[in-house]
Amino acid sequence: MAEPWWKTGVVYQIYPRSFLDTDGDGMGDLAGITQRLDYLSDLGVDAIWLSPVFTSPQKDMGYDVADYCDIDPLFGDLADMDRLIAEAHARDIKVLLDWVPNHTSDQHPWFVESRSSRDNPKADWYWWRDATREDPPNNWEANFVGGPAWTFDDTRQQVYLHNFLPEQPDLNWRNPEVVAAMHDTLRFWLDRGVDGFRIDVIHLLGKPELLPNQPGADDPIGRVNFFDFDDTHEILRGVRALVDGYDGDRTTVGEVFLLSTKLVAKYYGNNDELHLAFNFPPLFAPWDADVWRKRIGRVIDEMPADAWPTWVLSNHDQPRHRTRYGNHEGRARSAAVLLLTQRGTPFLYAGEELGLEDAVVAPEDMVDPGGRDGCRAPIPWGQADDNTMLDLYRAILRARKNSPALQAGDFAWIDSAPGTLVYERTRGDDHRVVAINFTDEPKPVLLPEGEWRCEVTTAGDFTGQLTPNEAVILR
Ligand code: GLC
Repeated sequence: MAEPWWKTGVVYQIYPRSFLDTDGDGMGDLAGITQRLDYLSDLGVDAIWLSPVFTSPQKDMGYDVADYCDIDPLFGDLADMDRLIAEAHARDIKVLLDWVPNHTSDQHPWFVESRSSRDNPKADWYWWRDATREDPPNNWEANFVGGPAWTFDDTRQQVYLHNFLPEQPDLNWRNPEVVAAMHDTLRFWLDRGVDGFRIDVIHLLGKPELLPNQPGADDPIGRVNFFDFDDTHEILRGVRALVDGYDGDRTTVGEVFLLSTKLVAKYYGNNDELHLAFNFPPLFAPWDADVWRKRIGRVIDEMPADAWPTWVLSNHDQPRHRTRYGNHEGRARSAAVLLLTQRGTPFLYAGEELGLEDAVVAPEDMVDPGGRDGCRAPIPWGQADDNTMLDLYRAILRARKNSPALQAGDFAWIDSAPGTLVYERTRGDDHRVVAINFTDEPKPVLLPEGEWRCEVTTAGDFTGQLTPNEAVILR
């Protein structure tokens, strides 16, 4: 098919700390990922995205980077990364790294220099203001810890901005030297052969010079969607031009944490900004046919035809969907069909193919400042033998690979009973019908004309009606 891999493929997110530990230090590592590539190739995914593995004091589990161009010793070294990239490519698996451009670690040499005086060469690489933490420049709050997003520095006698932890100062992307230095970090990895980047909280980059106040708690949506700044788009055009300057369909997928599909759509630009943008409203949707019909409808109505959507049910920041949907096996099975048959690129989160729910982590054992430890627990690989959920994911991924309609086809609704969703995917003369029962009752399905045979079912044999929580792919 004449489509780039990032449109037809399936991406598998790895949270390296918890994936596979090969050196017995209790922490997953790059060698562990390399060791599991055959498993991933059997599963049938096309790309892996690694949450950050760069040098980091791990205050935000690697999302606080102290050196963008080196590997943290926890995970291995650059030679391990080169090996991982080569072994993945040998199996036709692409590798995406997690680029964190909004903030660095406070241990990054850039920040160490920036905070050393008011007139050093990097004095303006971060957001410094004459103010105090008690009387900060604006009302922004620090994620995870709460309180002002501003911390006072004794040396400079000024405050600096951090949208996350005080140990994660925000870079000043208005400064062209920051842009150039961050572009160099992209080139470093593209030159080493990575296929692209997942980009962290991309919507925060284009902050206006005056840093206006954010709406309050009485306007929760306006509050989240406030961080949608015009200047981000020019920054993205710069990143896109750089990435597109490389051969081989390199790509970017940006985390646009705005809870509006219409706003997310803007981050594709005119095919000159992000290749893909995360659209999170479906991630927060309950297991309910009507809600899903609306969320999917928004993508159809609000995304321009040439902006290719993405689909996510779980990641390292939210409770796993198996848990969110009531730890219900039948729902988790049908959710796999729902996720992998939408029009757009699906993202799997390591472990969902084993049917994992969130681990129960005692408060005293939590290490994440955001309390997200439950979805970040080590993968219990012993569960991969005789795992019927894994068999199902493999079967759906095989069905996708064999079907241009499922990989890149158009999407059309088919009228269906309440509590169900039925849709058709079409590309040329390739057709698939997908039917999903979101309820605990059996449901009838009215198929379009023609002869339809069951290719994948999450339950027993499909006899023309859906059993409770059953999903089917028909061809
Ligand atoms: C993103 C990441 C999250 C991280 C935050 C700050 O939301 O997904 O894990 O804590 O950005 O970098």
